[in-house]
Amino acid sequence: MPVYYSEETRLFEIRTDRTSYVFGVNGKGTVQHVYWGERVEAAECIDMLKGRSHSSFDADVDRETEEFGGWGGSHYAEPGLKVEFGDGVRDLKLDYEGYEIAGENELTVKLADRHYAFRVDMHYKVYPEHDIIERYVRVRNDEALPVRIEQAMAAVWSVQGLPDYRMTHVSGRWAGEYQLRRTVLSEGKKVIESRRGFTGPHANPWFAIDDGKSGETHGRVWFGALGWSGNWKIVAEKSTFGHLRIVGGINDFDGAFALAPGASYTSPVFTGGFADGGFGAMSRQLHAYERAHVLPARQLRKVLYNSWEATEFDVQADEQIKLARRAAALGVERFVVDDGWFGARNNDRAGLGDWQVNPAKFPNGLQALIDEVKGLGMEFGLWVEPESVNPDSDLYRAHPEWIYRFPTREGTQLRNQHLLNLGLPEVKEFVLGFMTELLAKHDISFIKWDMNRTVTEPGSAPEGLPVWQKHVEHVYEIWAELRARFPHVEFETCAGGGARIDLGMLRFADQAWVSDNTDARDRLAIQEGFAYAYSPSVMMCWVTESPNGFNGRSLPLSYRFHSSMMGGLGIGANISKWSDAEMAEAREFVALYKEIRGTVQEGELYRLEPLGRSNLAAYQYVGKDGAESVAFVFLQSQHFGSAERRLRLQGLDAEATYAVSQDGGEAVVRHGATLMGAGFPLTLRGDYGSTLLRLTRL
Ligand code: DGJ
Repeated sequence: MPVYYSEETRLFEIRTDRTSYVFGVNGKGTVQHVYWGERVEAAECIDMLKGRSHSSFDADVDRETEEFGGWGGSHYAEPGLKVEFGDGVRDLKLDYEGYEIAGENELTVKLADRHYAFRVDMHYKVYPEHDIIERYVRVRNDEALPVRIEQAMAAVWSVQGLPDYRMTHVSGRWAGEYQLRRTVLSEGKKVIESRRGFTGPHANPWFAIDDGKSGETHGRVWFGALGWSGNWKIVAEKSTFGHLRIVGGINDFDGAFALAPGASYTSPVFTGGFADGGFGAMSRQLHAYERAHVLPARQLRKVLYNSWEATEFDVQADEQIKLARRAAALGVERFVVDDGWFGARNNDRAGLGDWQVNPAKFPNGLQALIDEVKGLGMEFGLWVEPESVNPDSDLYRAHPEWIYRFPTREGTQLRNQHLLNLGLPEVKEFVLGFMTELLAKHDISFIKWDMNRTVTEPGSAPEGLPVWQKHVEHVYEIWAELRARFPHVEFETCAGGGARIDLGMLRFADQAWVSDNTDARDRLAIQEGFAYAYSPSVMMCWVTESPNGFNGRSLPLSYRFHSSMMGGLGIGANISKWSDAEMAEAREFVALYKEIRGTVQEGELYRLEPLGRSNLAAYQYVGKDGAESVAFVFLQSQHFGSAERRLRLQGLDAEATYAVSQDGGEAVVRHGATLMGAGFPLTLRGDYGSTLLRLTRL
């Protein structure tokens, strides 16, 4: 049993395979965090469950360690909850009321206000084998008057007793998502957030905390990821008493709402965990948890071709058929037509919202292309952007009232488009309706769902939750409904690249488009940052042109393939123009990828040489049962002649022997111990060299 409560000590302990998470009811009747880290004897931590006072200015220092904590009394830290009762009282006093244990691994701790019929249930779900806990709260108003909820977070995580707290997170922008950042926290708050209506490319709701000394393979790391795809906020607050509180949930900014009498509100899930093997162990724990408990995917990612970079909006059935034939010759399994197939969508200024197949582009209808693609042995996939509308569209002309806008303002156009107010039931019905028709009418196996702008002038939702929340909930509901209606269809989350990827969206998405930047060198950084938190099994990467449009950088085809083979492989180049030699080389890489994709997508990731440490970057994947492993190595630039480079591998069985081959060359046999200790010599030279090692346990 991973969940324990002791009446004697009044301590709760959540035990995972390698960690203890301890909190308890203190003498004041409040629930106080006690300890989170390696396994301990919970009862022996009892001395940490106590009130602490410093002076009249810090009368209740222990409130900094409250397990959730509402704003009220002398609570000055970032609150889990801030409310105003119907009578105008803005003070919350949450006392412990009891607990329930459901099944083996779910705990609910019940809190209630001292005076008002207002309850907060803190939920914990434990995943012992991953050392991970999911948390969320449910708030219920049983008062006769509505309660105004000003801030309702999902969970508060506490880390205590480190001399320094270093926070790792990602930052970015369009075409430069998931850039890793590290900062030592001083007293005060470090806030990462989105106020743009979706997860956003500027930050992502994931964090890691260490003492500043942990590395890839060693050290203690506390981490968390929030499952919410709208406005979110994670606040890491270091107090002057040395305590760190990480508060996360839906962003309270412009987010207040009234909780009606008898109504309840449930927060998103905030997942947290602890790893004792450095950042590498942290990522592997998160990936394994995601694969087992978050992602819906039922099969390995298919090799796809997407025609966006080849044709952009100039989608023509004939040209697409040519591309499809070339793609099939490469061994591609899924052919995807991107933006430009519908309405008057010849550029980004018109047509968005008119989801009828353009008859001039598809004189024989879309199904004719689909039949062709299927005849070539591939599945067919299609791009949509259902939440958006161009003003120059029949949809907008018929329903100008459906967009987000304030009555006295012109709505801002971004990429010449508005966003539909998905909070309106009729808009939700419209989206569900046209998507159902599209999928029922055509033999479509894959949908790439895009969203190419942020939310502005959000107007108001008809009732209940703020519009920011309604939008996200309706997106989730639509995806869930479409998945139920069309169980054979797979879905990709895309938002102008990787701006809507988080543990909320990943409950519905089979795969994710990580960035519009397809420069294979930039992609290493983007993919590395992404894979700190998210499983490479959903990370879609395309091989595109060289020189690449983003940076004008020229890269060998092998480098582009190696970079793209580290997640779900796609091809996005104009393959109609590829030479016979390029086609032949690409065909071999696709075949090779199919051999190793199980190891890549279901294996464990080791960042052997993260970017920036040397001019090598190297990533190893060890397959499920350890029998197979692959390592991708990239040399950024060659200088001063070459010293022999030896790559020290990880995650192998020291006693076992492995057949190791580099780029399909003759295999040599080495012990795991030698490969992890002395390393394997690489023949890697030149600027933008890359190589692939394959290991098979003998
Ligand atoms: C942004 C996406 O990220 C691209 O892959 C492509 O689908 C374009 N939108 C199409 O407008």
